[in-house]
Amino acid sequence: MKTRSNTTARSQRKLNYAYGLILFLLALTGFAQMPIFKRYYIADIPGLGWLAEFYTTHFLHYLGAAAILAIAAYFAAEFFLVTRKYRRLSASGGVRAAILLGIIVSGILLVIRNTFFVPFSPQVVIVLLLAHLGLTMAFLLVLLYCRLAGKPWTVPRHEEAQS
Ligand code: HEM
Repeated sequence: MKTRSNTTARSQRKLNYAYGLILFLLALTGFAQMPIFKRYYIADIPGLGWLAEFYTTHFLHYLGAAAILAIAAYFAAEFFLVTRKYRRLSASGGVRAAILLGIIVSGILLVIRNTFFVPFSPQVVIVLLLAHLGLTMAFLLVLLYCRLAGKPWTVPRHEEAQS
């Protein structure tokens, strides 16, 4: 029988898959812009030539960025309006949220620089690029750790100690 909680769990699972796929797309297209796939001959593998095309990967990175903003806004709204009443952010969830926020803020500033040609000084641009890249590396490592250690984003309010 189709119940309301089954439907909610199923849509939550779909959202989680979408979140994973979008993160993968962002990391792939982000690293493609450095550009490492041409240099290390990965783009020579049949079917992967597009990874060496800057404008294609740049456009896909922007699409992924719009999608991650939408999903992050949805999860944040759900947490602050509903879940927070009976669950709290775990320590590892807080670390992940803070790093993702840093990636988003540095990404938005880089989009402003690229799109509206706001004259940030070269030093500021280098700091933004290093922050975006460094936070990305940190985020991927923390995600791997949390995945392997089975760390949840949120825990019930009475489980204060173990996150
Ligand atoms: C978890 C999500 C994300 C990951 C893993 C990621 C990863 C990356 C990486 C590795 C680069 C290459 C950095 C470099 O050239 O040194 C990059 C570039 C870029 N990212 Fe992201 N990114 C993410 C989210 C975002 C978001 C949300 C935005 C915008 C709202 C964004 C905007 C940009 C822009 C504009 C560049 C190009 C910078 C340039 O060379 O002018 N990214 N990203």
